[in-house]
Amino acid sequence: MTGRVAVVGSANVDLVVDVPRQPHGGETLLGGDVRRSPGGKGANQAVAASLAGGAETTFVGAFGVDDGAEFLLASLTKAGVRTDLVSRVDSATGTAFIMVSPDGENSIVVAPGANSRLQLGEEQLERIASADVVLAQLEVPLEAVTAAAAARRSGARMVLNAAPSRPLPDLDLDVLVVNEHEAADLAGTPGSPEELARILQQRAPAVVITLGAAGCVVAEAEIAHLPGFRVSPVDTTGAGDTFCGVLAAVLAEGRPLREAAERAGAAAALAVTRPGAQSAVPTAAEVAEFAEFATGGNAR
Ligand code: RIB
Ligand code: NA
Repeated sequence: MTGRVAVVGSANVDLVVDVPRQPHGGETLLGGDVRRSPGGKGANQAVAASLAGGAETTFVGAFGVDDGAEFLLASLTKAGVRTDLVSRVDSATGTAFIMVSPDGENSIVVAPGANSRLQLGEEQLERIASADVVLAQLEVPLEAVTAAAAARRSGARMVLNAAPSRPLPDLDLDVLVVNEHEAADLAGTPGSPEELARILQQRAPAVVITLGAAGCVVAEAEIAHLPGFRVSPVDTTGAGDTFCGVLAAVLAEGRPLREAAERAGAAAALAVTRPGAQSAVPTAAEVAEFAEFATGGNAR
């Protein structure tokens, strides 16, 4: 094990249906069979961090006392994620309703339930303080994100995936990860990924903007565009989460941000070729094999 990652965030039971296309307002569409799969941005990212290889990963989140909670705990545990600090609250476990169209795109509505009751107690804050990288998203109360940032030890890094988009106060961040839409929302203006990254560096010294098939932009002192991988999309659900989890795990190994973004991009590309969120997260060995194949010029 190299490094420790603490993920503070949401967990949802994903109820997924394939649709011929995304519906319009007021429209009824017939879809395929409903599937139930483990999801939630926080839990997805924890699974990705754990499967990335090195890092000991703890998930800090809130579940209800129901069958959905057991379903999500089983998926986290199977991926080697520590779940001893998950709290149980008097509210239904989070649920996400997801429609996936044939191009692999999705639309998602989240019923946060227990996630919106997440509070960090002493034990959670202690575990966060022992992490090398603290990773959070925005499907839980902002108070929890703020408390996590404040609890990190000096030298540890706070990584925020500002998803889904919502107004954000000033937070003490080291790395901000967003997609293009979230970047424009947060910057309050449209712009090229490079322009948006520079603006968002007012919020964090390092900014990563993910661009789907086009790769990502990494802005520190220098700014770099890392190209994407050519894959046939099956289901993009959770690909961004795979990116964030792997990024955090590689940072926890003490590797540079750019290298972390390279590995994260390869893992996310693989995740897009598989159905589901947590069920699509590749192992470190799969990512290494894919990246080698890709740099041979076949998938890039
Ligand atoms: O990022 C994908 C995730 O968003 C899904 O797993 C769903 O649960 C929502 O949280
Ligand atoms: Na997927």
